[in-house]
This record gives sequence, C-alpha cells and structure tokens, in this order.
Amino acid sequence: MNRKPLIEARDVTRVLPGPVPVTLVWDINLTVRQGEFIAIVGASGSGKSSLLYLLGLLDVPTLGAIFFEGANTTELNREAQAKMRLAHLGFVFQFHFLLPEFTALGNVMIPMRKKGALGEAEIEREARALLAEFGMEEYAHRLPEELSGGERQRVAIARALANRPALILADEPTGNLDSKNAQQVFDIFKRMAEKNGQTVVVVTHETHLARQTHRQVQLLDGRIAANG
Ligand SMILES: Nc1ncnc2c1ncn2[C@@H]1O[C@H](COP(=O)(O)OP(=O)(O)OP(=O)(O)O)[C@@H](O)[C@H]1O
Ligand SMILES: [Mg+2]
Repeated sequence: MNRKPLIEARDVTRVLPGPVPVTLVWDINLTVRQGEFIAIVGASGSGKSSLLYLLGLLDVPTLGAIFFEGANTTELNREAQAKMRLAHLGFVFQFHFLLPEFTALGNVMIPMRKKGALGEAEIEREARALLAEFGMEEYAHRLPEELSGGERQRVAIARALANRPALILADEPTGNLDSKNAQQVFDIFKRMAEKNGQTVVVVTHETHLARQTHRQVQLLDGRIAANG
C-alpha cells in the first residue's frame, strides 16, 4: 500500500482572539498517511473537534500550517480551501444533517451534483451503489423522517463519501447510535481505509471503538499527549 503522508499538521496552534484569548490547540505535529485509519481521543474540552476542524480546512491555524498531499493549504485563500474540501474531503458529524425534503438517494446525490463532474444518470447510479455498500439500497426512496437514527447515519456517511474523498473526517459519528450500529460504522470506515486506501480520522470517546483503528492520538489540554 502507498503510505505517503496525506494530511499533516505542522506546529499548529489555534488561538481564538478576544479580550481573553482562548487557545484551542497548541503545537500540534501530526501526520496521517494514505490508507490510515486513526482515532483522536481525549477528555471533553481537550481540543478534538478543534483539531478535526483544522485538519478539515474548516478553520485556519493561528501559527503553523496544514499540509495536504505536501501542499501548504494555509497559504490558500478561503475559496481555494473550499474547493479543496469539496474535491478531497468528506465530513461525518454526530448529528446527521440530512435535508428533510430529499430522499436518502437525493441526499447522497447532492455533493456529486455540487461537484459537477458526472452527468445525472451516472450520479444516480453511483449514489445507488453507495447506498448498497451501506445496506441501504431498499431505503433509497425514503425520506429522512421515515428512517431510524442508525439508518439516517448510514445515509449521512454514504453522502459524506459520495465523491470518494481521499480524507474522511468524522466527529463522534457514533455518539447517538446503539452499539450494533456504532460497530457497523467503524467496520465501514475500516473497509474504506484498507480496501479503498482512503484516510479516515475519527474522533471518539468510545475506547473499544478507538482500539479498532490503526493508531490513537490522545489530546490533553489542546496538546498531543500520546501518538501511537
Ligand atoms: N468558540 C469558542 N469560544 C471559546 N472557547 C471555545 C470555543 N470553541 C471551543 N472552545 C474551548 O476550546 C476547548 C477545546 O474545545 P473542543 O470543542 O475542541 O473540545 P473537544 O475535545 O471536542 O470536546 P468534546 O469531547 O466535549 O466535544 C474547550 O475548552 C472549549 O471550551
Ligand atoms: Mg468535540
């Protein structure tokens, strides 16, 4: 397997300015390679979401830089960063934000339409194939309100993976799932990494799930306390 660095934080510190500045993360040095599946763990308030937002180019470091495939993304303007996100990144959050007026299939088709690389028929075929990978093909025409929490989360993950992103970032993706559905989500992530060579960074507080990844990065008060 190709193990070149995909995403790297180099000397990253993020401070929220204000009368009382808040430091979200300090001196983060982290390299995640292609095909790696890692967990970010740590106590509440330790900076896990802040780090994920920085790796996902949703936030910008105050000091240091985020590199994607060796290129410094922090030097890019917001528009170029947004383009990069759309082309290479997929996000999964604890609370899925499926659009209620679209079916499962319609929701999965949205990012592909936005990217504009495929025609409508190909988009639908690809979206159905993705739903099938998640065991959701029979639910393609259901609205979110007609799905269970676990089913919605699977649709949300299928949507996050719609453009086959090189990097998948997930913040507590199993936080509102029962253990069976949570395990299924982790099995899917592992498959994405090991079969497709996608890189997966997942924030979780569930230790038995974190142990199933290739590497755990532990944060303590905004710093990396352990890596490996
Ligand atoms: N907008 C903000 N203004 C002030 N402080 C903030 C802001 N966002 C985050 N923080 C603080 O920064 C620290 C890191 O927050 P972060 O959300 O990254 O933690 P976390 O590890 O994801 O926690 P949790 O497990 O509870 O989700 C926390 O102490 C938090 O209170
Ligand atoms: Mg968080």
